Amino acid sequence: MAEIVSGKQVAAAYREELKAKVLTLKDEGIKPALTVILIGDNPASHSYVKGKQKACQEVGIVSNLIVKSDSITEEELLQLIDEQNNDESVHGILVQLPLPKHINELKVIERISPYKDVDGFHPISVGRLLTGQDTFVPCTPQGILELVKRQSFEISGKHVVVIGRSNIVGKPVSQLFLQQHATVTICHSRTKNLKEITLQADILIAAVGKAHMIDGSYIKQGAFVIDVGVNRLNNGSLTGDIDFDSAVEKASYITPVPGGVGPMTITMLLANTVKAAETLHTEKIS
Ligand code: GUN
Repeated sequence: MAEIVSGKQVAAAYREELKAKVLTLKDEGIKPALTVILIGDNPASHSYVKGKQKACQEVGIVSNLIVKSDSITEEELLQLIDEQNNDESVHGILVQLPLPKHINELKVIERISPYKDVDGFHPISVGRLLTGQDTFVPCTPQGILELVKRQSFEISGKHVVVIGRSNIVGKPVSQLFLQQHATVTICHSRTKNLKEITLQADILIAAVGKAHMIDGSYIKQGAFVIDVGVNRLNNGSLTGDIDFDSAVEKASYITPVPGGVGPMTITMLLANTVKAAETLHTEKIS
């Protein structure tokens, strides 16, 4: 029977550490600030953004919310980002995804200053991660790594299997674990014999977006199982990509949904904002 890893608890401890850092910055006259730009009325996006704002308040980060209707043009959005790039009181900028179809997501991501790229999605941040340089690491992958590390689960030499190859989770989390000296396999929708591969995983990360796709029969005895899925069932409840009841019998550690990876993701956004405030401050005085 696996130990259930409470992301909520780990996140709460981490946020206490961030609170102290924010206070130190404030003593130096810096008020860490995050601007979130939200386009349109996607209910899931609105709910995520609300969670981000609440978390900012909790640790003393200033959160600016800019909401625009989905009639905004790409050019107007790019101008809005320029304004935030040039505003010295703003340390981090996040444009909530997905964006309306008439707006080119990559163009928007590239417009955010790499100094303020708290999502870690800018190609410069991605390239720095790939080449092992200090950078903003995307929040969900960073949260996952932190969860595993805080359980003192050995990563070096282990086989990490990632299901999903998105730019937000699958690709960056694979890089992060590679840097921790794991052997990493990335699986996706065209992977043949998925179960044969997942059964080799010492650490299994599911980021597919299909409710209960991975049951206990995919899991090696004693594996660390991380569920990144956030799927809404017909009855309105949230559930992961992992079939929890059968997986919990095989794993040694497992993250629940909700209360696992989610709270860690938001916490890493706070951490990246504090990092941005520290970095911009250091650049200014050096
Ligand atoms: N939409 C879903 N996840 C994310 C995220 O991590 N960052 C942004 N900007 N949008 C998202």
